[in-house]
Amino acid sequence: QVTNQINQVGHLTIGGVDSIDLAREYGTPLVVYDVNQIRHQIRAFKKVFEEEQVDYAVSYASKAFAAIAMYQVASEEGASTDVVSAGELYTALKAGFPMERVSFHGNNKSKAELEMAVKKHVGKIMIDNFYEIDLLNEVLEKNNSEINVMLRVTPGISAHTHEYDQTGQVDSKFGFDIESGQADLALEKVLANPRMHMLGLHAHIGSQIFELNGFEMAAAKLIEIAVSWRKNHDYTAQVINVGGGFGIKYVAEDHPLKPEEFVKAIIKTIKSEAAKNNFPIPEIDIEPGRSIVGPAGYNLYTVGSRKDVPGLIPYLAVDGGMGDNIRPALYQAKYEAILANDPRKKTIQKVHLAGKYCESGDILADTELPDVKPGDILAMLDTGAYGYSMASNYNRNPRPAVVFAENGQAQVVIKRESLMDLVHLDQSYNV
Ligand code: LLP
Repeated sequence: QVTNQINQVGHLTIGGVDSIDLAREYGTPLVVYDVNQIRHQIRAFKKVFEEEQVDYAVSYASKAFAAIAMYQVASEEGASTDVVSAGELYTALKAGFPMERVSFHGNNKSKAELEMAVKKHVGKIMIDNFYEIDLLNEVLEKNNSEINVMLRVTPGISAHTHEYDQTGQVDSKFGFDIESGQADLALEKVLANPRMHMLGLHAHIGSQIFELNGFEMAAAKLIEIAVSWRKNHDYTAQVINVGGGFGIKYVAEDHPLKPEEFVKAIIKTIKSEAAKNNFPIPEIDIEPGRSIVGPAGYNLYTVGSRKDVPGLIPYLAVDGGMGDNIRPALYQAKYEAILANDPRKKTIQKVHLAGKYCESGDILADTELPDVKPGDILAMLDTGAYGYSMASNYNRNPRPAVVFAENGQAQVVIKRESLMDLVHLDQSYNV
């Protein structure tokens, strides 16, 4: 794959743009997205649904990377989007994202957030708990408004992935429990509320999942609940949302299915479970985040210092680190890095690729690299999901710029923070 992205001068290209030119022009650390890859993945998801001839929504989980430009691309590609905060909703609004295609998620949405969502007429509120039903009712009454809702349930499925990334098991902070009857009670409350239009059921079992069966079980469980609701509550769900979580390949040992293959299996399960129960095939919604933006993102760094201890693996440091990509430190996430100014150069050494942050755990990757020297540009691959979106100003380092590259053209879509930006909220203390 990388071979196709090398230009005549032997540099890595991203979206048809020379990565070394990007580093020179915009500085490093730099986050670069190949916009075509983003478009391609959204289209691949849509194609599966079109082929299977079901009603659907591909709702981009924007927590993976939220920016005005990203909402613009998602909107242009006909995707819906998930937001989980007033901040994401505000960014989507600024991008002109169609509000009817927005779903608002979260286990503790504030009254102010719900009010914003109601006033802006978002497409759906994904109700997570009983407190939220009451709070939303209050907001709807105050604004004399109505809104579409879905109920998030916890299907009792643990996906085999990093513990922090699991959300579908019973002992989880998200969603209504099923076995104890909470989901049924929530349904009754929502159906009894004329301001809430109940659309259906949602579950999200986790993130960076490689196995099909978790998704199949979740999909089957959702249909099972829908069938029981039709029987016991005379309510027929129109929408089943199976969440996101489709795993991507970060390193050679990862062997996930293609994201769209997960979706195909989910659709098959829902169709067959619905048919078995003589239940009308619902609209099927998915909420991929990582699989849409992850593979499209690259973090560019400049090589700096190096520490060699005889007999030990050397530390090679770059000018970014845990402030622009917390995932290795937080989840022991693995990434591959290549020498962007000469991707074909032979790898000869194992290194701890260290960041610049004052913390021993700030190691971006344990990887193999060619012989590199200060000033060389490294590209970390597949950094597009939960990289910039989880960035911080730790050690008062400015967050990097984000560039969109497509068809040989590059554009800054988030400016690099300046030192002035870092202090612009500070107030001096008058003693
Ligand atoms: N839908 C819901 C309700 C979610 O909670 C999430 C992710 C998604 C969709 C999208 O999942 P994806 O397709 O991106 O796996 N910061 C962690 C990932 C946290 C995921 C949280 N929820 C990481 O960097 O691995």
